[in-house]
Amino acid sequence: MLSYLHAFHAGNFADVQKHAALTLVLSMMQVKKSAIACFDTHAGSALYDLTGERARKTSEAETGVQQLWAKKELLRAPDWQLMLEALSEHNPAAAGVLNRYPGSPAWLSCFARPGDAVTAFELHPSEGRALETWADQAGVRVCCEDGLKGLLRHLPPTQPRLLTLIDPSYEIKSDYRAVAETLVKAWKKCRHGVYLVWYPIMENGLEKPLLEALAEGPVRKILRSEVRLENPPGRGMVGSGMLVVNPPWGFDQRFAAMLDDLKGSDRLGLTATMDWLVPE
Ligand SMILES: C[S@@+](CC[C@H](N)C(=O)[O-])C[C@H]1O[C@@H](n2cnc3c(N)ncnc32)[C@H](O)[C@@H]1O
Repeated sequence: MLSYLHAFHAGNFADVQKHAALTLVLSMMQVKKSAIACFDTHAGSALYDLTGERARKTSEAETGVQQLWAKKELLRAPDWQLMLEALSEHNPAAAGVLNRYPGSPAWLSCFARPGDAVTAFELHPSEGRALETWADQAGVRVCCEDGLKGLLRHLPPTQPRLLTLIDPSYEIKSDYRAVAETLVKAWKKCRHGVYLVWYPIMENGLEKPLLEALAEGPVRKILRSEVRLENPPGRGMVGSGMLVVNPPWGFDQRFAAMLDDLKGSDRLGLTATMDWLVPE
């Protein structure tokens, strides 16, 4: 029984890192004309109400995307522009604060070109229903099934290029192992694909087996970006990690410049590191 609902966390610092990586990768891939198959294995419900009860209960967006929005004049990396424009489109009346936040399928559909295809998987029944309702208008194919198994069934895609986001809630401890195993299988089916894997950085190091399995496995060219809260809670999630397999050339420098803008207590209160978990 799944209980995680992303509405409690939408727009937090981890979403800012994850969706910045997603939009930058996609825009860099789109420099070439050939079509891209985009897969979102754990999609959530696509659009989140930041004024709703769930968002207000945790206030996580306050220290994430609301902070980014409030400080947007200070962002120096030009690559923030795409995200800021999309946030503006989702919040036509927003002046000081944002009311709505797009989830990963909405970011993908926002930037997908006519020849690109977006497929979103979601297993939670009510999240799946909300996703299907939204997807009708957005031209996104929804599969209400296990995203890891579903992804493997769809690979290799019919389009010449592949972008995959793997973003589980890690509610079940075995998710860490399942993600590592699925990434290896997916990579063997489509070696040139770009894969983004999000993971929480936990105070108790629960994510380490995922990283160790990938560091020792066959997949090459895995870039690791981690952001950590300067003032973390005593337990639970203390940071957020993104792995990018086969990042477009130059992505590391451009993404590092974006994350530089989030450092320090007057911004999102984060520290950031980037390295190659596995080199070429
Ligand atoms: C962290 S949230 C996704 C957030 C979304 N990717 C975004 O960035 O806006 C994880 C989602 O995965 C769903 N989920 C959990 N297990 C799943 C599975 N095996 N297959 C597909 N979806 C799953 C959860 O219901 C939840 O909505």
